[in-house]
Amino acid sequence: MLPEFFEFYNPTKVVYGAGIASDFQAELDAIGVEKYFIVSDNVIRDQGIVEKVVAGLTSAGITVTGEFLNVPPNSAIKTVNLCADQAKSSGAEGLIAIGGGSVIDTAKAANILISEGGDLVEDYSGIHTLTRPLKPLVVIPTTAGTGSEVTMISVIYDEKNKEKLAFGDKFLLPSLAVLDPQMTTSMPPGLTASTAMDALTHAVEAYVGTGCSPVSDIFAAGAVELIFKNILQATEDGQDLEARGSLLVAANLAGTAFSHSMVGCVHGMAHASGALFHVPHGIANAILLPHGMEYNFDEIKEKLARLTPFMGVEISGLSVEVSAAKAIEAVRGLTAKLNEMGALPLRLREVGVPEEGLPELAEYAVNDGTSWFNPREVVAEEILLHLKNAY
Ligand SMILES: [Fe+2]
Repeated sequence: MLPEFFEFYNPTKVVYGAGIASDFQAELDAIGVEKYFIVSDNVIRDQGIVEKVVAGLTSAGITVTGEFLNVPPNSAIKTVNLCADQAKSSGAEGLIAIGGGSVIDTAKAANILISEGGDLVEDYSGIHTLTRPLKPLVVIPTTAGTGSEVTMISVIYDEKNKEKLAFGDKFLLPSLAVLDPQMTTSMPPGLTASTAMDALTHAVEAYVGTGCSPVSDIFAAGAVELIFKNILQATEDGQDLEARGSLLVAANLAGTAFSHSMVGCVHGMAHASGALFHVPHGIANAILLPHGMEYNFDEIKEKLARLTPFMGVEISGLSVEVSAAKAIEAVRGLTAKLNEMGALPLRLREVGVPEEGLPELAEYAVNDGTSWFNPREVVAEEILLHLKNAY
């Protein structure tokens, strides 16, 4: 059944190619500014990735006005403010983010301050707080997970109030996403697995969520298929560019899907685990995805049954109920294999969540913005039962 209303807005240009991150001058010419400030982190710098991109930019006649390489894994307001100050005083006309979700989200949020000034938390948290385009933002992902290169969302930790703040606006959509599988080959197996599981969670939650549309469905299902086909190989052999590229594209498709239809209670629980107990986002999602699918099962089974074949599971002749249950089984099978490879934990108890912290997690998940889009009302006592299962 078609939704009564939906929209699809995807203005970010996406280019893909092995080696393209050090040679995309034509794309920058089209954007039209020549002074860029780089946002990245020290791990990526140490891998020589920033140097490689900067060398390409310099030989193309682009001026790099400065670099901010201190983005931590869960970026905070303080970091964004520092980054924006440095970029602004460098005279940059645009930003290039090279990194994973934290780097990209930092660059998006910093771009608000660079372009508009003001106070990030007071003036811009929430959705639709911007009124005009910001400075050009080019994104080169070095993980295949967040899809942040094509979303209108930035999530930043507010250290004062101990919560993750979301900024959502169409003007946060990057100008250009450069997908180069060579940029992701140095990810270790654990990060490969957890970031891809984040992308899988985006895809599944977007597909079954209340905001889905026929357009977001195609992107979500395509992402699920690519992830199931490639996650084990990319985790096993990080140099396999075909598998790496497939995950990068999958994360991008999933990002496009959830940017339109949003995510649900799995992300609610993952945001809670990150904010309260510092569980990395992808790991939290990997642990919680099957439990969130179970929480929503009655509301999503018809839709879920249609997703099962994209996981490589045959469902002909099976009932809706059984076909849908097979999707959960397939996700569990996948995370179990990744666990056997030493790339993923399977339980909250293994990642520093104390058992007595579960009620607090449940409360946080209920109040998380993702609850609005979850197919079933997120109720603390009910979600707590599933958190206990995940413990
Ligand atoms: Fe996510």
